[in-house]
Amino acid sequence: MPLTTSTAGPAYWEPLWAAGRRYRRLCEAEKRLMAEHLGPGGGRPALDVGSGDGSLARHLHHELGYRTTGVDCSPSALALAAAQDTGPGPAWRCADITTDDLSALPDAAYALVTCRLVYRWMDDKPGFLDRVRRLLAPGGTFWVVTGLAGRRTTTDPARRELGISPADAELLATGWSVVRTADLDVLRCYALRP
Ligand SMILES: C[S@@+](CC[C@H](N)C(=O)[O-])C[C@H]1O[C@@H](n2cnc3c(N)ncnc32)[C@H](O)[C@@H]1O
Repeated sequence: MPLTTSTAGPAYWEPLWAAGRRYRRLCEAEKRLMAEHLGPGGGRPALDVGSGDGSLARHLHHELGYRTTGVDCSPSALALAAAQDTGPGPAWRCADITTDDLSALPDAAYALVTCRLVYRWMDDKPGFLDRVRRLLAPGGTFWVVTGLAGRRTTTDPARRELGISPADAELLATGWSVVRTADLDVLRCYALRP
């Protein structure tokens, strides 16, 4: 057992999902930003990394028209996601995006890769971003939704610093031909193109 558990893998996330922990729901404002920045999928492939219980993957698939795969390292999260499918919906894959073989995913390249409330938890952010770049099709979009440290109005210092640091925000936004951002209260959304 390592002294500190990685926050980018199943040892950290599976117990949280299994114990009933849930995360911020998609709201109408976030859906409007996606419609504006991502546009219609037209059946093109999308990959939602760290898909959790599947809300974003289902939205991409059913509302925006992307042929979506949700990948998560937590079997409990994926079981929740799959249980909500009443008909043909997203494909679900259990994998660790930081270490597993990316060629095992259903498509070799994705028009859209999304990552909602996940980037912050990646221990090796440069390595994670390299792997995402390998998954993006030419002209594709990487959509990231993340908290920014210091954006919360709270006197609790631990909660105030929830989110990514300015250095991690700069790392995320560096090396793309197009960088668009939009703020959603304490969250920032990024639409990044290679
Ligand atoms: C804060 S939750 C967000 C879930 C979902 N994206 C949402 O917006 O509700 C972070 C998710 O990332 C997943 N995750 C963390 N590290 C991962 C990894 N290395 N590979 C795949 N999924 C991972 C966790 O299991 C968890 O479901």
